[in-house]
Amino acid sequence: MLLADQPIPVYTNLTDLYGSFGSSLNHAVRWNELTEEFKSRFGRPPTYIVRAPGRVNLIGEHIDYALFGVLPTAVERDILIACAPRPGDSPGSVVAENLNAKYSKQDFAPTTISDGKAEGWHLDIDKKELRWESYVKAGYYGVLSHYFPKSTDKPVPVDMLVTGSVPAGSGLSSSAAMVVASTLTFLAVNNKLEQVQGSEHKPLSKGNLVTMAMENEKRVGVNSGGMDQAASVMSNASSALYITFYPTLSASPLPLPQRALFIITNSLVVSDKAVTAKHRYNLRVVETLVGARVLARALGIKLHDVHGEGHGHGHGHGHNKTKWEKVTYREVLGRFVNEPQGCGPEGDMGPESLIIALKGILTKLNCLLPQRIRGAAARERESEELGVTMEEMIEMSGLSPKVFHEVYLSWVDVEATHFQLYKRAKHVFSESLRVLQFRKICLDAADNLPFRSISNKASTNNEPDRLGQLMNESQKSCSDVFECSCPELDLLTKLCREAGAYGSRLTGAGWGGCAVSLVAEDKAEAFIQKIKETYPPYKDLEGPKLEEVIFATRPSSGACGGFFKFWCRKVD
Ligand code: GLA
Repeated sequence: MLLADQPIPVYTNLTDLYGSFGSSLNHAVRWNELTEEFKSRFGRPPTYIVRAPGRVNLIGEHIDYALFGVLPTAVERDILIACAPRPGDSPGSVVAENLNAKYSKQDFAPTTISDGKAEGWHLDIDKKELRWESYVKAGYYGVLSHYFPKSTDKPVPVDMLVTGSVPAGSGLSSSAAMVVASTLTFLAVNNKLEQVQGSEHKPLSKGNLVTMAMENEKRVGVNSGGMDQAASVMSNASSALYITFYPTLSASPLPLPQRALFIITNSLVVSDKAVTAKHRYNLRVVETLVGARVLARALGIKLHDVHGEGHGHGHGHGHNKTKWEKVTYREVLGRFVNEPQGCGPEGDMGPESLIIALKGILTKLNCLLPQRIRGAAARERESEELGVTMEEMIEMSGLSPKVFHEVYLSWVDVEATHFQLYKRAKHVFSESLRVLQFRKICLDAADNLPFRSISNKASTNNEPDRLGQLMNESQKSCSDVFECSCPELDLLTKLCREAGAYGSRLTGAGWGGCAVSLVAEDKAEAFIQKIKETYPPYKDLEGPKLEEVIFATRPSSGACGGFFKFWCRKVD
């Protein structure tokens, strides 16, 4: 069965969930504490505990919203939510508490609003300020609008207690883990993990949960792609995931190198993508979307704009209105090479053809430079000169200012004097190419015994060095071309390389947060010691404090539910 079609697993013991008795014992302490605290705060045991892990992205940064494939894996660090319906309270009301005292107790209930035609649910989500409950509400909102379309349908009142081990703002996707866990909580307590279709009961699939969690997270104000949610839901404990978004969401396991570890180091620069979205994350989303339209026009690629009757320029009204396609770079690439539909295992042209197509399109990006400097060597130019002003960008898009605004700016708040269409495109296509090359090395190596001796740097096929090199190139591109690194991450990744890593790069949205490094298993200890000595913010950290910021990670299983009563019996 395809990964996206599999049901959300429900475990009745922790060994099945965490893959080994050893690691389940460590986690049992957390599950127990959460259960006991729930009982003492709410006066009864939880009905469910849901779990959603964070993720580390091995390679493929800022390309998911251009619909290119990425290579993350879930980590053991996760969000757990214990929950139970609260009998007798007003429908749909929520009491949300957090084991971490930093996050205050929340008490809220959805209201219904009407725009005259239809009724909908409303939950106050603060987009200006970072608030932990916004992620809880975002998950709830999606469940309400999908499963309680009429305000006469009443969701149950819920008590919930949250605990998390994914550091916030660290690039390990605590936000997606929180939204996935919250969505799952409200589905579970409202008995919606199964859908009734005619006489059949169909379990909610992993693909459904990813799609819901993606929509839900947008409510917090970040137009993120689907990587984090897909990794949190679809990962398995023995491999990384190759996730593709075009033509549809699809994921396949990728075996990882033996005897080498991915070690995470936290730069300790906190970067929250919701707070800085305007001039960072969301700006990149707009730059890549507009760039895709400009590139399509320049390459003579057909856009699927649907023109309203009698109007060709988007000034129609009501049902005559033109629908402008918000084309992505992945779609432009497909049309550039006349991609046949549904041929490869992911339903696309397949990795070999993609590699050729990407190399081809990388030579066609000059049309994204401002008219005033085209033809000159872009390499030698200052960043600002390579960017285009708002006026230039609108002109290059071929749209009127009014339509441009409606299609590319009306749904998002961004701020910039220069928009870097050329540089962003260069990163997106080259990073997508690196993902496919990284994947190929891992796949070839899995069939190839010499790869097993990966700890030996001189191994016949040199795979770890080749993987490391791709990671280093990715970091350089993130830093210089996509401009999503920061001085601390540049320094940290450099120190990681000097400490013996095959390669090192930032992971996640960037501008702070963590780096991920590929390190030979037998060199891991020396590597950690070296980084402790050389990265200035680590100097005074010891024991658990040090383990918080530098740790090896192995793939973990994806989001799940746990039935309290069975689990409790097992652990007791
Ligand atoms: C964040 C987003 C993801 C992805 C990464 C960058 O984590 O949530 O969708 O875009 O940044 O690769």
